[in-house]
Amino acid sequence: MANYEPLIRSWGFEPIEKLSDDSNTSYVYRCSSPKKESFVVKLPENYLDSDGKFCIRREKDILSRVSDFDFVPKLLGFIDNKSTYTNGLDFGSDVNFQGVLALFKEYVFGRPLEREEKVCGFGNQSNLISLVLRLHDLGFVGIDLNNSNFIMDDSGKVWIVDLGGVYRHGDYRPDNVIRHVDMKTFDRLKSQDFKRIEELCF
Ligand SMILES: Nc1ncnc2c1ncn2[C@@H]1O[C@H](COP(=O)(O)OP(=O)(O)O)[C@@H](O)[C@H]1O
Ligand SMILES: [Mg+2]
Repeated sequence: MANYEPLIRSWGFEPIEKLSDDSNTSYVYRCSSPKKESFVVKLPENYLDSDGKFCIRREKDILSRVSDFDFVPKLLGFIDNKSTYTNGLDFGSDVNFQGVLALFKEYVFGRPLEREEKVCGFGNQSNLISLVLRLHDLGFVGIDLNNSNFIMDDSGKVWIVDLGGVYRHGDYRPDNVIRHVDMKTFDRLKSQDFKRIEELCF
């Protein structure tokens, strides 16, 4: 089992709580820094797992395209080997990022949706539907609309906190159950998203 806490500390951040457990496919921590009280860092479970890395890169790509949705955590930073991006975080100077892959995003204070709990009230249904439609428009399907990927904040607003692993037409993912997203698979995943919205909302 990986322990990323020393690595996170080497960037000048303090891990506060591990949010992921054995059911997750990545390592997710709530952290703090001198500049920011709370944020989330997500790392691959295993650096040899190419699909785990794919999911984190895909999530970064998506978060940067839906930054105008205020119920999706803001992208705060990204480290991919020697390339880094920050939006309000200081990664520290003289840090060696060789081989590192990490995604930083806003932390949402609240609680995960219970199993089978519905998404309702406070505009939550229309928010969810407009996000899924936007992702479909951008060519992304197969969104993981699992209850554990939603957080209800203290005002009752439902946030979608995990946009990892979403598929795109033409994706080739040899280490995934869906190896190749051809047109038929793409359409199937799109219908699956609509079916899942129905289950969640109605
Ligand atoms: N931005 C966030 N704010 C609050 N909690 C979060 C956030 N991101 C993730 N979590 C919590 O951490 C858990 C694991 O994160 P997630 O991104 O879903 O990892 P995985 O891709 O491995 O499923 C989520 O189920 C959620 O409870
Ligand atoms: Mg998840």
